[in-house]
Amino acid sequence: MTTPSNARVLIVGGGSGIGRALALALASNSIHVVIGARRPEQAGDLPAKVSVVHLDLQNEDSIAAVASSGPFNHVISLAAAHANGAVTDLDRAAIVTAFDAKVIGPILLAKHLAPHMPAGGSFVFFSGVAAWAPAPGLSVMATANGAVAFLAEALAVELAPLRVVAISPGIIDSGTWDHLGEAKRDLFASTAAKNPARRVGSVQDIVAAVRLAMENGFLTGTTLHIDGGGRLA
Ligand SMILES: NC(=O)c1ccc[n+]([C@@H]2O[C@H](COP(=O)([O-])OP(=O)(O)OC[C@H]3O[C@@H](n4cnc5c(N)ncnc54)[C@H](OP(=O)(O)O)[C@@H]3O)[C@@H](O)[C@H]2O)c1
Repeated sequence: MTTPSNARVLIVGGGSGIGRALALALASNSIHVVIGARRPEQAGDLPAKVSVVHLDLQNEDSIAAVASSGPFNHVISLAAAHANGAVTDLDRAAIVTAFDAKVIGPILLAKHLAPHMPAGGSFVFFSGVAAWAPAPGLSVMATANGAVAFLAEALAVELAPLRVVAISPGIIDSGTWDHLGEAKRDLFASTAAKNPARRVGSVQDIVAAVRLAMENGFLTGTTLHIDGGGRLA
């Protein structure tokens, strides 16, 4: 099954990284994409098939407002906020922000958008390999990512026949690591040396998985591990 060109897809966190690449890929297939972003004015140049609206997962009113502009056939949330560091140093507000982005926000997306979604609709929520390969300093990320996997199972049952899929990327060259400078090369080299795929992931690897999640009508209540086997390394 392919996504019909009159489908409307909401991408939360589509202003950067994987989400932006996904928006451009879907639009190039004539799918109408709405990016939900905290700062729509910073979205830059986008093709005509892509529009941008204000949506902050920490602001339920903004989610309800976008829902009222629907319906959307598919809703994808890639939002992430980091609360990294030793557990003894963590700041409560940062922990809450991280869970707002990955867990509470997606629950509110389901609350407001599911009632309007047509048959064949799906939610795709982003988890991450840290849940299956925990490391010191990543406890909040690991726990939030793990919660996404269970959220996909719970909502798949509750919202059926709408489908709900989680995607768990490994280390992806999405732009999110660019701030590391030279250390990015070291991170990518050590990742590629350890994982079974022997490379880091590309945004295209993840876009292909999102398309599968949107288009395969027998796929629901599960997590797609697009991590090069990194959770096993
Ligand atoms: N790249 C990797 O190596 C990797 C590895 C494992 C998992 N993942 C997961 O894959 C997803 C996409 O990754 P990425 O590399 O593309 O990340 P990214 O570039 O950091 O994108 C995250 C997006 O989330 C948005 N966001 C954060 N909080 C939000 C909120 N409250 N409301 C709405 N949007 C919010 C950000 O918007 P602003 O511009 O407003 O900040 C940003 O556009 C994330 O969930 C990430 O955890 C990525």
